[in-house]
Amino acid sequence: MESVFANIAQAPEDPILGVTVAYNKDTSPVKLNLGVGAYRTEEGKPVVLNVVRKAEQMLVNDPSRVKEYLPILGLADFNKLTAKLILGADSPAIQEDRVATAQGLSGTGSLRVGTEFLARHYHEHTIYIPQPTWGNHPKVFTLGGLSVKSYRYYDPATRGLDFQGLLKDLSAASSGAIVLLHACAHNPTGVDPTLEQWEQIRQLIRSKGLLPFFDSAYQGFASGSLDADAQPVRMFVADGGECFIAQSYAKNMGLYGERVGALSIVCKTADVAKRVESQLKLVVRPMYSNPPIHGASIVATILKDKALYDEWTVELKGMADRIINMRKQLLDALTSRGTPGDWSHIVKQIGMFTFTGLNAEQVKFMTEKYHIYMTSDGRISMAGLSSQTVPHLADGMHAAVTQVS
Ligand SMILES: Cc1ncc(COP(=O)(O)O)c(C=O)c1O
Repeated sequence: MESVFANIAQAPEDPILGVTVAYNKDTSPVKLNLGVGAYRTEEGKPVVLNVVRKAEQMLVNDPSRVKEYLPILGLADFNKLTAKLILGADSPAIQEDRVATAQGLSGTGSLRVGTEFLARHYHEHTIYIPQPTWGNHPKVFTLGGLSVKSYRYYDPATRGLDFQGLLKDLSAASSGAIVLLHACAHNPTGVDPTLEQWEQIRQLIRSKGLLPFFDSAYQGFASGSLDADAQPVRMFVADGGECFIAQSYAKNMGLYGERVGALSIVCKTADVAKRVESQLKLVVRPMYSNPPIHGASIVATILKDKALYDEWTVELKGMADRIINMRKQLLDALTSRGTPGDWSHIVKQIGMFTFTGLNAEQVKFMTEKYHIYMTSDGRISMAGLSSQTVPHLADGMHAAVTQVS
């Protein structure tokens, strides 16, 4: 008998994770994967931070630790510490008990829980997302029950921020609409507003009664400073207004596969926060019941111990600095090859990615001729690059720019 799924269509690969699938099939010794945003060492190896190893060892050595279910909203210690990390130790919202936090399945799961909460409890179902944005955003928001519109963000002509376009589009948004903001290190463009521009965005959002939803996937990765990278979020919390924040520990603690993150909803009063928290449980329980214990325990162990925390900040800064250094090396390599065009955006953009400006044809050429893998929008992960691979990438880019229009 034929399968009941005999007519099922073959689904396309995910545009980002599919790049790794193609890379894995390539047998060339010079192949280079700059698709997925995962940190690699100078030797091209994935890293487990020393501080993470230490925390894990402490957890293993503690016989009182068991594998019981966590509560629906996760590890209480983790939730307090994660809110403190993004909002700041002296945040009035925390002191006044106005923050409802749910431990989530990394950034993606936290975004999804926030989305379903909004779809159920918020009167406005439109979310404005930057153009472009991380490819998973529109899918998470749509499937979670919101309807997606976009606001201008990136200007290909300057390879920088289209600030006037952004202000115009948000000014035209209907009152109450949700606005997705990348807290720092905008993905895929690497283009962030300046603090002065953030202040204007804040004023506009508050004056129009829009609801900010921050996606914080790279705290510490943009500048190397956890506090500096949280500044935009803190500006919005300092004004006493409400906002949503999804955090991920995938990149900044290298906990990709542990799936540890959080959703925090900053409310106007402690009473509202308490009721919001009670409703978050109703979103989570039928979705995955309760979150996993291991990753959150690692994060909580590090965040609550001053020595481990300090050690983490040093390791994090080391990763951020290596990425910044790769930017300089790539720019130098293109300059020394005389590659046509202005490539200064490589060092101006920040975070894990450079939005090169290469078009889909040029990307295809580089993959076919140079075995260099990246998303078709020309985004490259600087974290996947090393001093040894910069020359090969620069050769590929030079050839693509000079041979493919
Ligand atoms: C902007 C942005 N948001 C969220 C995520 C979520 O990642 P994760 O679910 O692995 O934490 C990513 C990861 O690439 C991202 O770039």
